[in-house]
Amino acid sequence: MSMAGSARADTIGVIGGGRMGGAIAQIFVSSGFDVLVVEPNAALRAGLPARIADICRARGQGDDCVQRVVTLETIDRALAVCALVIEAAPEKLELKQEIFETLGAVCGQTTILATNTSVIPVTAIGARTQHPARVVGTHFWNPPYAVRLVEVVQTASTSDATIEKTMALMTRVGQLPVHVKRDVPGFIGNRLQHALKREAIALVQSGVCDAQTVDFVIRNSFGARLGIMGTLEQSDLVGLNLTLDIHKVILSDLDRSVEPQQLLVDLVAAGKTGASVGEGFRTWNSDERKELQGRLDKALLSPRAQSAKE
Ligand SMILES: NC(=O)c1ccc[n+]([C@@H]2O[C@H](COP(=O)([O-])OP(=O)(O)OC[C@H]3O[C@@H](n4cnc5c(N)ncnc54)[C@H](O)[C@@H]3O)[C@@H](O)[C@H]2O)c1
Repeated sequence: MSMAGSARADTIGVIGGGRMGGAIAQIFVSSGFDVLVVEPNAALRAGLPARIADICRARGQGDDCVQRVVTLETIDRALAVCALVIEAAPEKLELKQEIFETLGAVCGQTTILATNTSVIPVTAIGARTQHPARVVGTHFWNPPYAVRLVEVVQTASTSDATIEKTMALMTRVGQLPVHVKRDVPGFIGNRLQHALKREAIALVQSGVCDAQTVDFVIRNSFGARLGIMGTLEQSDLVGLNLTLDIHKVILSDLDRSVEPQQLLVDLVAAGKTGASVGEGFRTWNSDERKELQGRLDKALLSPRAQSAKE
């Protein structure tokens, strides 16, 4: 592919070719874009085409598109041609700020500078660029080709044109963009997910039930409905007077910890960090871990799961 010329609508950049960056690169390259991926780790850089080809096959797509992926060791002027650059480097503020400062200096005058941060405010990440109107959050979910939502986050400085162009690009590659109108930590999805997680940990910590029971209840009660009906729709459906009556009784009793709970802190301190080491909230053997991951991947890529839930 040619690197010459000014910004091209069909070229994007990805900073960090890890779990998320590699999958984001696959989404764009399989939709006809040329993709430049910056990955400092030589082994990961060398293995990237094979990883992208694996994702193509898992999605039932051909893998010829991998030829349009170019890998780079560091951010350089080659990225000037990109319409959009998505940063998917480790979740560290200083590092992301440095990357955005460099991107602001080397990218073209119209390149949109996006971050895939999970929870860090986008405003803080873009604080050192000279181009805050072109800085935006694009929060993909894992794996992004199967869980297709992208939260497009607008800071106080992001221009409306940046939001519109970013949303259009996400739609063009088959993702499901939503506009997050204020730059709040965790955006929409992770705020909801971690509000639930805080109460889940509190229930185990206070001895109401064990971790497996929490997850069994989620999967077999309101969780069974969630893929079809959102939580606010559900309130409307049963009537808001019921939600109001319930909230009058329950809200004052829900967990309101503003620090990580002691149970979580203690597990991590004891090295019980989850399935990969055999113990976290519950114990795991390697077969159980693989079986659950396999079942999840298969279900997420099924045609039913892939239809957008309006
Ligand atoms: N994993 C998830 O489930 C998930 C979901 C949504 C968002 N995110 C966010 O996406 C980002 C990346 O997460 P990940 O899971 O892909 O992490 P990862 O560790 O798999 O990938 C990060 C990659 O960035 C590379 N890197 C390190 N320094 C760099 C630099 N200076 N320039 C360019 N690349 C550099 C690393 O070598 C690594 O390959 C994080 O901000 C994370 O919070 C992760």
